[in-house]
Amino acid sequence: MVTPEQNIPTIFTAFGATGDLMRIKVVPALFNLFQKGELPKMFRVVGFSRRSWSDAQYREYIEEILTQYGTGATPQETIAAFLQLFHFQEGTFENDASYAALKSKFDSLDGEWGVCANKLFYLAVAPEFFDGIVRKLDASRLTEPCLPREMAAPPISWGEPLEGWTRVIVEKPFGTDDGTARALDVLLGELFEEKQIYRIDHYLAKEMLQNILTFRFANNLFELSWGKDLIESIHIRLLEKVGVEKRGAYYDKNGALRDVGQNHVLQMLALLVMERPQSFDTDVIRGKRAEILQALSLLSEDEVRQDTMRAQYEGYRVIDGVAPDSETETYFKVTAHLDHPRWAGVPIILEGGKRLGEPLKEAVITFTHPQPCLCPDGRHHKNGVIIRMEPQEEIIIEFWSKKPGLAMQTEARQFHFLLREQTARMQYTEEYERLLLDCIRGDQTLFITTDEIRAMWRFVDPILATWARGVPALTSYAPDTRDITEIS
Ligand code: BG6
Repeated sequence: MVTPEQNIPTIFTAFGATGDLMRIKVVPALFNLFQKGELPKMFRVVGFSRRSWSDAQYREYIEEILTQYGTGATPQETIAAFLQLFHFQEGTFENDASYAALKSKFDSLDGEWGVCANKLFYLAVAPEFFDGIVRKLDASRLTEPCLPREMAAPPISWGEPLEGWTRVIVEKPFGTDDGTARALDVLLGELFEEKQIYRIDHYLAKEMLQNILTFRFANNLFELSWGKDLIESIHIRLLEKVGVEKRGAYYDKNGALRDVGQNHVLQMLALLVMERPQSFDTDVIRGKRAEILQALSLLSEDEVRQDTMRAQYEGYRVIDGVAPDSETETYFKVTAHLDHPRWAGVPIILEGGKRLGEPLKEAVITFTHPQPCLCPDGRHHKNGVIIRMEPQEEIIIEFWSKKPGLAMQTEARQFHFLLREQTARMQYTEEYERLLLDCIRGDQTLFITTDEIRAMWRFVDPILATWARGVPALTSYAPDTRDITEIS
């Protein structure tokens, strides 16, 4: 439930009010938070878009989203009350008058409530619009707390969970390489402090990813073995069943490594290999994630040739928005190493892509025996820990057991922990509930820092640059098969 200090009047402004992100992720997540009583009592959503809609028309649109999402047994009054939270502001991203109109909308809500509400700007738009929107927000002084700029020193500090803050939520992609990411950061940095910027990587909000830190640090089972002496390799897979479908234009400019490698896969790695944080404090956790990402060894051209693979599924080039001679990868495999005493020499295999059969999203940690083990059948036994998100959220520990019977034989067995019944999981909605609530409440732990972003691009950029020179050559694979993943 909302505690008084969390009950901060908040106006959530969505740029890209009628886009896919709002429809698929944000609106259902807000609806769930509303039903759970987690939103502040004074809370409004202002949708900003070029359509000439009234509040009533926007509410009808939101209602349709809810109907598609399924409102179950929710009473009609609850749905009606939720819809009342939504307002609409017609406008274009480049027009000053639109921002002035937005400001009047805020003023009238603030006036109605008799407070200076916090303002949360959600940029659910393509990256080419970021710059324009952010500059207009600044020019129209919408990014300031509710205080005139002329005041010598604001009585509240920006970004604090008090009345009057402004925050901005930015969705990936954060640039397309280190240079563009840095430019975006410079821009955001001119207008916001780091504590006001919330960069979303929805993987960090996944239950199983949050569980990695609990599994490692709330238990003492594996942590002492967690390093090069006993771990032989780490393999992170993000194999998707879905293809590129309607996202051809976006995807063809980016490819699999930028789409899921530079962010989701590397964030998962960070949680798996980061040093033990002294506490669960936001800055400590984020600092440890950044530190280990900065330790990724950069691959030389020869290493890219030998240790990476890129492939495209057959049929990709006829997708709308994809160039007929596209060289964009829809699959990658990269063997990485960490320049870190704990992990020296441990191969880390990072893999991801689309149309690869049934989904398989997991990290496999393979243990080794430092010396040949006492294994009755002469085989060298290995243990594994699998942390899996799909097809189901589970942790598996692979071990060897004596086969029942008179002979002294061993067999591979598994301890198996299922996080919950998979019907209880609402993909995206659950993650966005967590992220939006954390942003309203001012907890940045699950949001990525600029240091992390820079470290991830620093690792990925040389690989992409070498691939752009045709090294190694792009190969192809039959969609809906795993054949390509078998090639080493
Ligand atoms: C997104 C990518 O960031 O992550 C998509 O743009 C990808 O292409 C998705 O499908 C994967 O996320 P999840 O939660 O479905 O594993």
